[in-house]
Amino acid sequence: MCGIFGYSGKRDAAKTIIDGLKRLEYRGYDSWGVAVVSSDKIDVVKKVGAIGDLSSLSKLPSSTIGIGHTRWATHGGVTNYNAHPHYSTDKSFVVAQNGIVENYQELKEKLTKKGYIFSTQTDTEVIVRLIEDKLKKEKELFKAIRSAFLDLEGRNTIIVLPTSNSHIYAVRNGSPLVVGIGKDEVFIASDTLSFADKTDKVVYINNNEMVSYHGGEVSLYDVKSGKELKTKISKLEHDDISIAKEGYDHFMIKEIVEQRHTIREAVQYSLEELTPLLEAIKKSRNVYTVGAGTANFAAGQIAFYLRRYAHINAIELKSYEMESFKDMFSNKDLILAISQSGETADTIEALEFAKAKGAKVASLVNMLGSTITRMSDYPYFSRSGPEICVASTKAFTAQISWGYLLAKSLTGKYSQARKDIEVLAEKLQNYFNKKLFSQMQLLAKKMAKHEHFFVLGKGQNYYIALEGALKVKEITYKHFEGFAAGELKHGVIALIDKGTPVFVIVSEDENKNDMMSSAAEVKARGAFVIGIAKKSNELFNEFIKTIDASELDPIANVIPFQLLSYFLGVSLGNSPDKPRNLAKSVTVK
Ligand code: M6R
Repeated sequence: MCGIFGYSGKRDAAKTIIDGLKRLEYRGYDSWGVAVVSSDKIDVVKKVGAIGDLSSLSKLPSSTIGIGHTRWATHGGVTNYNAHPHYSTDKSFVVAQNGIVENYQELKEKLTKKGYIFSTQTDTEVIVRLIEDKLKKEKELFKAIRSAFLDLEGRNTIIVLPTSNSHIYAVRNGSPLVVGIGKDEVFIASDTLSFADKTDKVVYINNNEMVSYHGGEVSLYDVKSGKELKTKISKLEHDDISIAKEGYDHFMIKEIVEQRHTIREAVQYSLEELTPLLEAIKKSRNVYTVGAGTANFAAGQIAFYLRRYAHINAIELKSYEMESFKDMFSNKDLILAISQSGETADTIEALEFAKAKGAKVASLVNMLGSTITRMSDYPYFSRSGPEICVASTKAFTAQISWGYLLAKSLTGKYSQARKDIEVLAEKLQNYFNKKLFSQMQLLAKKMAKHEHFFVLGKGQNYYIALEGALKVKEITYKHFEGFAAGELKHGVIALIDKGTPVFVIVSEDENKNDMMSSAAEVKARGAFVIGIAKKSNELFNEFIKTIDASELDPIANVIPFQLLSYFLGVSLGNSPDKPRNLAKSVTVK
């Protein structure tokens, strides 16, 4: 979702901001803008679409201070005009925002009555006018921003660039904000990845903190009290900061293939490092695993492993459906958040609910230094390296392999689990080959004419049916629906018609017979059955052989869906890395 990037230093501001915005691109956006200050004047360039043609930047004067923004539209259409940064009426400052002003209508009404004119439907413009209004009383921009910010409801982070040389202000509540400190330069951004190639010194900004940058100095304030706070500089420990396709056509296929090693990297925790969490789990009454989208399916798979192998009362929750659980948490519970970005607003809110009731918070996050990590009593990292494709692939399987290690470690089988994952990683080395890719491309070709697809799974493959369907949906825009095979007779079977493609995920486990019965039932109604399995079967019209990974089958079985999603998406002319309407980091509710 929206990305913020501010810069001041010796480099060319516009160019540096564009570099930063490009490194924020993965979050998803539909328009972008850059503002720079020169000779006490702010110049702005805004564009709809991807950052590509940079000829418009030539309109900007040479400058060493400015801000930029990638917008993912919430209020107001995708237009140049609605793109950020937004000018104040007298053009003495510009504002860019990440978040949603939940009370924007109420504020807009009040400001309209006072005579302010609004020319967009954006909630950002409300912030601009509110600052203008506060300025009348407060006189200083710093105070006016503070005061205006306190009137905003919702999760918002804003960055303000005034004409007065060498100032940038930023305030955080909810949406992420970090400050990178380089040699004679400062970066103020939505994530550390955006400047990780330029500096490894970072100040993490907490909620309700305000950054005031002036003439090379960064000061931090509590936005509520206005009291100055100490700035703490941390060292960034990104083990992989490169954002390159490395010869692949798209990040998606690169990241799918990277699973050969990312499942292994996710479990590079010693037993000592895992022990605090293992002990906390043992002491807990309930373990709630929580996440959104793909991360929720990983949370479900981890809860499954915890129940199945460690007999832990583990329950998967959807982070955006927490209302009824709010009062259920207590200090006897532990909540385990799963998130690639560590910035998902729904998941952060879920953790806030649980924390408020005294529950302990653990997390598995891929982005170092993210909000969820900092909220956690037991933070862990999936160590997959940057996942740039909007659709999550390698982060998902890394999360599952870490969950497997966790569950097995609770029963004293830490070493065995590490070995199991190593064996699967070894098998994956030769798995991604031309033959498999051709088979998946052929399957994609056959599937292209269909619009509705179903995926059935059971037991260890239930969440894989859900995730497999979500993956293909995201990239192909086709209607893929994942179900528990058990649902079939209770309603889903009504959807099966002659030729309907139905994927059945079959492991050599206690659910095999049930899965084959489901395959027979849909086949009897004319379905085109695609078996994702270890062994072929006469019931399958099409057979995709997967690696036999036993208890790690969920990892092996999701890969064909990732590949189908990619090849079908590409053949349909879709953009696999940036599917329509989706954002990588969903920082608003
Ligand atoms: O960053 P997170 O893992 O918390 O993101 C959660 C979801 O928004 C994310 O998994 C989403 O479903 C992806 N588009 C999946 O491919």
